[in-house]
Amino acid sequence: MLVIFVGPPGTGKGTQSKRLIRYLDAVHLSTGDMLRAEIEKGTELGKKARTFMDQGQLVPCEIMVNMIATRLQELPVDANFLLDGFPRTIHQAEELDTMLGEMDRCIAHVFALETDRDELRRRLIERAREEGRPDDTPETVSRRLEIYDAQTSPLIEYYQKLSLLRVIDGMGTPDEVFARIERALTTDGNSPSSSK
Ligand code: AP5
Ligand code: MG
Repeated sequence: MLVIFVGPPGTGKGTQSKRLIRYLDAVHLSTGDMLRAEIEKGTELGKKARTFMDQGQLVPCEIMVNMIATRLQELPVDANFLLDGFPRTIHQAEELDTMLGEMDRCIAHVFALETDRDELRRRLIERAREEGRPDDTPETVSRRLEIYDAQTSPLIEYYQKLSLLRVIDGMGTPDEVFARIERALTTDGNSPSSSK
């Protein structure tokens, strides 16, 4: 099964992915985490990505598509996996469709996590205090939200048209949100390992 999380910064894509990979016995592919690992290692890719990330801008699509293509090729053919932070533009979604077509895989669900703007800011300000993620400053959060609205939110309609979209209320505790995701999976008639 392949699941995609779409949603603005702070909506809980990473938090819910961690829960869902246990439930589905799936691999978590977070492009944000991959980029932060490259920065940590001090690679050329990491240095380049950092200039965009620190400003709340998207890293160029070509880098991201290559990164995901490499990871997908490394996965066992029947692995369950979930994508967190990719695709982030219509172009990336179309590239993903091509990659999946070549792998004879298809998307099972796209979960759009919806959370109030005030709550998103509250969560990210709190994370800035606790973890110090460099792109969680108020200015950069505002930029990331603008970029989400302009470049990523069109994915909602894109996946709606493909009848893959499941809108999930992202408000409440992480456990409450996960219970909604679990319900959406089970009411769809899919058991954790039933589809590829
Ligand atoms: P990325 O790391 O993907 O960041 P993001 O999308 O901005 O999202 P976040 O990770 O901040 O939020 P989240 O939705 O995962 O929420 P989380 O669970 O962490 O991307 C970072 C950057 O990398 C981008 O800006 C871009 O530059 C680049 N990039 C990545 N992918 C790219 C791509 N495909 N193309 C181009 N560039 C790309 O939760 C947030 C906080 O809230 C946490 O502290 C959490 O504990 C807390 N929380 C979560 N849920 C709840 C809840 N229900 N109640 C209370 N607190 C909660
Ligand atoms: Mg995240």
